[in-house]
Amino acid sequence: MWIALSTIVSYLIGSISFSYLITKKIKKIDIRKTGSGNAGATNTLRVLGTGPAIGVLLLDVLKGVVSILIAQALGLPEWAVALSGLASIIGHDFPIYYGFKGGKGVATTLGVFFMIMPLYALIAGVITLLIIFATRFVSLGSLFFLLAVPVLGWIFHHYSAGALVVTFLITILAFYQHRANINRLIHGKENKLGQKKVQA
Ligand code: G3P
Repeated sequence: MWIALSTIVSYLIGSISFSYLITKKIKKIDIRKTGSGNAGATNTLRVLGTGPAIGVLLLDVLKGVVSILIAQALGLPEWAVALSGLASIIGHDFPIYYGFKGGKGVATTLGVFFMIMPLYALIAGVITLLIIFATRFVSLGSLFFLLAVPVLGWIFHHYSAGALVVTFLITILAFYQHRANINRLIHGKENKLGQKKVQA
């Protein structure tokens, strides 16, 4: 009962698309129809610039954090806490309020992973920033982070099997959402940070 409640509330919170709302408010356009077409912080950076992008990033991270806090406040087991995180990410990717077309879930996953695996998220987060600065591919850094955190949790046996399974599901979903990015990375066509003309 509490698990279902936490999962549903987390999905509804995750469904709030801050990049969509802020871009609509400032530029009167649908972020999903411009730049890479992704409703996320990276595309907000392209469309609106640094300030709004940082705002979107923090708010999207917060969605993941809040979903975990709700599950923890309800005293749910580790796997169900992670499930609430997954639900907020699913909300971000497939938002109920905006025709189920959202983002790729990186910032919300950041919030979830920092809450449930803080040390591994911190280690992977630092390496991720180095990858992004060195290559200027946000997607490559994101993919590294998304894979590294659950792999570290798995290697060091820090979490219950159930929680680990859910974190790997989060990673699989994120890789699926990044399929176009992965294809562009393989073919040397991925959009770089600061690049004006981008491919969707
Ligand atoms: O946060 C998503 C990022 O990894 C890639 O975004 O807009 O370049 O597809 P984008």
